[in-house]
Amino acid sequence: MNDYFEEEEFESQINKDTIWRIGKLGLRHWPMMGGFLLFISLVSVVEAFHTYLNKQMIDLGIIAGDMAALKHYALIYLATWPVFVILVMGFILCAGWLGHRVQYDLRQSMFDHLQELPLSYYDKTPTGWLMSRATSDVTRVGDLVSWGFLDMTWTVTSVSASLFFMFLINWKMTLIVIAIIPLLYLVAVNFKKYILIEYRMVRKVNSKITGAFSENISGVRVVKSLRREERNINEFQNLTNEMYSASFKAAWLSALFLPAVQLVSASAIAIIVWYSGVQYEGGMMTIGSIHAFVSYITFMLWPVQQLAAVYASMQQAIASGERIFSLLDTEVDIVDAPDAIDPGTIRGDIVFDHVTFSYVEENAVLTNFNLTIPQGETVALVGPTGAGKSTIVNLLCRFYEPTGGAIRFNGRDYRSMTQASIQSRVGMVLQTPHLFSGTAMENLKYGRLSATDEEVIAAAKMAGADGFIRKLEKGYQTEVGEGGVLLSTGQKQLISLARAIMVNPDLFIMDEATSAVDTLTESLIQKGMDVLMKGRTSFIIAHRLSTIKNADRILVIEDGGISEMGSHAELIKQRGHYYNLYTRQFREQAARV
Ligand SMILES: Nc1ncnc2c1ncn2[C@@H]1O[C@H](COP(=O)(O)OP(=O)(O)OP(=O)(O)O)[C@@H](O)[C@H]1O
Ligand SMILES: [Mg+2]
Repeated sequence: MNDYFEEEEFESQINKDTIWRIGKLGLRHWPMMGGFLLFISLVSVVEAFHTYLNKQMIDLGIIAGDMAALKHYALIYLATWPVFVILVMGFILCAGWLGHRVQYDLRQSMFDHLQELPLSYYDKTPTGWLMSRATSDVTRVGDLVSWGFLDMTWTVTSVSASLFFMFLINWKMTLIVIAIIPLLYLVAVNFKKYILIEYRMVRKVNSKITGAFSENISGVRVVKSLRREERNINEFQNLTNEMYSASFKAAWLSALFLPAVQLVSASAIAIIVWYSGVQYEGGMMTIGSIHAFVSYITFMLWPVQQLAAVYASMQQAIASGERIFSLLDTEVDIVDAPDAIDPGTIRGDIVFDHVTFSYVEENAVLTNFNLTIPQGETVALVGPTGAGKSTIVNLLCRFYEPTGGAIRFNGRDYRSMTQASIQSRVGMVLQTPHLFSGTAMENLKYGRLSATDEEVIAAAKMAGADGFIRKLEKGYQTEVGEGGVLLSTGQKQLISLARAIMVNPDLFIMDEATSAVDTLTESLIQKGMDVLMKGRTSFIIAHRLSTIKNADRILVIEDGGISEMGSHAELIKQRGHYYNLYTRQFREQAARV
């Protein structure tokens, strides 16, 4: 997990490609973007014009004592106000719309992509990491496209509009102002660097805190059972302390920043006022012009003061953008070949032909694994934990593909078929059955939304799940909780069995949970399995050997290979691993009884 959170440290410098990609997210909605640009430019022009109007009112109205002129300018002022208000509303609406739309687009494409990504991606990626991509990162990028972009354009348009009117009033003074501006930016930019370093620190600790939170919540049972509370509290306290001191430093620097910038800008204004005085003496400047100049300068300094904040959030947003794009760019490594077909059924013999497979390179779980299963056979896999049983069925379902060799259905390499054609015809009960939050009924319908309630109940009856579901508080309409936490593992398996019956699969796979279920549930599961196994090729991974006594063939898997193979009776006769496993379990059971 740490690797993922450390990643925050390598903050992106402003990366042009990423900016361009983020920009394109906005440009996709170019009519809105165009409207937004138009509104904001007009707002800047009207704003600068109002300052100019003030100057005219002072000089030509008040000082000249011309009431008619004053009235004239006041009317213009009044007339342009509504326009100004409408323009401001317009750009805020456009910016807001753009920001939300970009967030919407990003979330949608991330979700779509996540559905496509292979299981191997999820092996490597912590859930918390994905969650923050979909939440805070998306928000930041959306904000950059709306408010960040707004700040930047506003700076450019209002500075240009101000300069235009300043030139109109007095070009010499304007040149002096232009000379002072770079000095201000220099001070601001240097300060900004230190502030950014602190903020980066704050963010780094912040993501560690989020990570600690999410791990502790999702692992709360383990935390409690291993009595880790106190240690975790201490670790967490260290993190929050770190966060506190980093935030405090950042706050200090931010507090110093404004006075520093204001010191420079006050000096700038002082110079301008002094020089204006000189020019006024010579009749080159009027009172109104001096007022206007001071206003324009204050106006232009605002973006400079904002610079550090804008720059920081822009950098964050770009880092967020990079992480989002890295997710979106992750290649889907199990893709259907362009000429992949849907054979209509995957009935027929199944062959593992010299299959080699590793989850991580150079760590082969299966090497040259060979196995042929005739149509309709029930194969049971037994063996020690970590031997590779789940891996074999993962490959069979094409959640992963062999790194060497091939798997063939009815003589055809399964890579020449579409994934959907395989996965839709496999009924599966996983080692850790997963239910979704929602009712029992919704979970049962998950694989076939079109099923009627009657069909669902019939399947539940066949699976032996009907009895316990009816005893739940609201029967089939009972909420099962996120991940089905409100049900026991055995109950979840019964629901999974019913779900598998509903899809009427060609191939049935059961990866039995190790956790012991009571004997009643066990016999219910057994009955459900018998229904599913009848006439179908079935793979049963069993930990309770009693469930597989009737399998056509039992394979003992050890270290990714088959060490024994045969029917129950044959294997017992061989007196090998299976015999040992069986007698041991038998003795344990007898002892328990
Ligand atoms: N997603 C994964 N990423 C990396 N390695 C994995 C992954 N899943 C399993 N492995 C490794 O592959 C080997 C085989 O695991 P597998 O899950 O197939 O065992 P198993 O026989 O099903 O064990 P169990 O009886 O405990 O379910 C183990 O060494 C395991 O550590
Ligand atoms: Mg397993």
